[in-house]
Order: sequence, then C-alpha cells, then structure tokens
Amino acid sequence: MLKVEGITVCYGQIPALRNVSLTVEEGELVTLIGANGAGKTTTLRAISGLLPLASGRITFEGREIGNAAPRTVLALGVAHCPEGRRVFPHLTVRENLEMGAYLRRDHQAVAQDMERLFHRFPRLKERLNQPAGTMSGGEQQMLAIARALMSRPKIVLFDEPSLGLAPNLVERTFEIVSDIRREGTTVLMVEQNAYAALDMCDRAYLLESGQVMEQGTGQAMLANDHIQRAYLGG
Ligand SMILES: Nc1ncnc2c1ncn2[C@@H]1O[C@H](COP(=O)(O)OP(=O)(O)OP(=O)(O)O)[C@@H](O)[C@H]1O
Ligand SMILES: [Mg+2]
Repeated sequence: MLKVEGITVCYGQIPALRNVSLTVEEGELVTLIGANGAGKTTTLRAISGLLPLASGRITFEGREIGNAAPRTVLALGVAHCPEGRRVFPHLTVRENLEMGAYLRRDHQAVAQDMERLFHRFPRLKERLNQPAGTMSGGEQQMLAIARALMSRPKIVLFDEPSLGLAPNLVERTFEIVSDIRREGTTVLMVEQNAYAALDMCDRAYLLESGQVMEQGTGQAMLANDHIQRAYLGG
C-alpha cells in the first residue's frame, strides 16, 4: 500500500535520512522505533509531503507521492497525527475536528463521523466549544488522534502518540491505535516506547542515524539481541 524506496532527506546540506526503505501493506500495523534524532519524524513528514526528497521514491497505492503537496497526500487517504499534540490552540475542539475533514464535501457524513468519534472520545464532546489550547495534554492528544480520523484516512501516520502521557493514558492510547487498525485502517506508528510498540505491531523497522538498521516482525524484533541491549534494557 505504502512504499518508501531508498529515500534521502536533508535539512540544508545535512542528510537526516539516508537511503531509507520501508513498506506498509494494507491492514498492517507497522512501527518505526529508534532513539532521539534517528529520523523517525523526518520519515513521517517526508511521506506526508511536508519535506522534499533529495532522492528516492514514495508511492501510495501505486501513485507517486514523494514531493507531492501535503493536501494531495491527504486527499489520497494518508492522515498524519503529528508529534507533540499539534492541535490548533486558538480554535475550538469542534473547529479542530472540522479542520481534519477540510477536504471532504460530504458534510452530512462528516457530522456523523464526528458523532461516532464522540463514543470513543466522550471528553471531546463535553469540550466542543473550548479552545483546544486550554485542554489538558492528554485531552489534546485525543483531539489530535480524532482530528486525523476525521479525514476518513486509509492509513494514519502516528508520531509518538503516547509521548508525555500518564501510564493509564499511554495504555489507552495504544488501545485506541489497535482499535483503529482492527476497524480496517492501516497504521504506521513512530514510538519511543519500544517494548509496547513491538509487542502490538505486525512488523517494525529500527532507525539509527537516519538509516534502517533492523527490520522484522514485532516478535522477531523483541527477540533481537541488538534491540534488546540498546532499546529494551535487556
Ligand atoms: N527543521 C530541522 N532543521 C535541521 N535539522 C533538523 C530539523 N528537524 C530535524 N532535524 C535533524 O534531523 C535529525 C532527525 O530528526 P527527527 O526529528 O526526524 O528525529 P526523531 O527520530 O523523530 O527524534 P525524536 O525521537 O527526538 O522525536 C536530527 O538530527 C535533527 O536534529
Ligand atoms: Mg520525532
């Protein structure tokens, strides 16, 4: 479904990704793990059209999307739930959710989708008219996830959805990600919490210094010596 083939991405002259390749098949939950600065966010931003490729190719359902405009990528069904709960702080919860659906013209279905999301995120319904920036960190994270779903994506790119949340919310967030996949949406998730990420995914990639160093099924990655020593404290 999603194919990243040998991409190099630079900030100025400095490469942040070197010859990175990965694939995500329809229905899979794939995770990308790695230390701070490894290039995880850069990878998701390149897929979303937010960063240009210096070389390589990205295709989604057979269409080339490397260097495409972000709205083009979104329109094809790729939603990005960014790092650090990037909600629009001055817009209300409702306006943030509407922004997630801004390319859709099926307004009735948008309203229905919003109602449906409130079953999963009841707090958002209570806070519909509150400026998003005044919500708690956990509430903003839920809003960021809900906003990404409002585009009815085929695949969601999650960038560290559990970052900075209390343990019970971390667990809840992973449950939500698993639910989203179970309901048929493909997921590519970046996570620092390597154990949880590897345990819940189908396949995973390890990035180190902008390169893919290991890849395999979640279980194989959990059993990998290098990963155990460097990322699982084993
Ligand atoms: N806007 C930027 N300008 C210059 N360098 C950048 C920029 N954004 C990221 N980098 C560099 O690119 C490299 C990869 O950064 P990236 O944000 O992709 O890492 P990451 O794996 O997401 O890390 P983290 O776990 O801390 O979020 C880092 O060395 C970072 O300093
Ligand atoms: Mg990052």
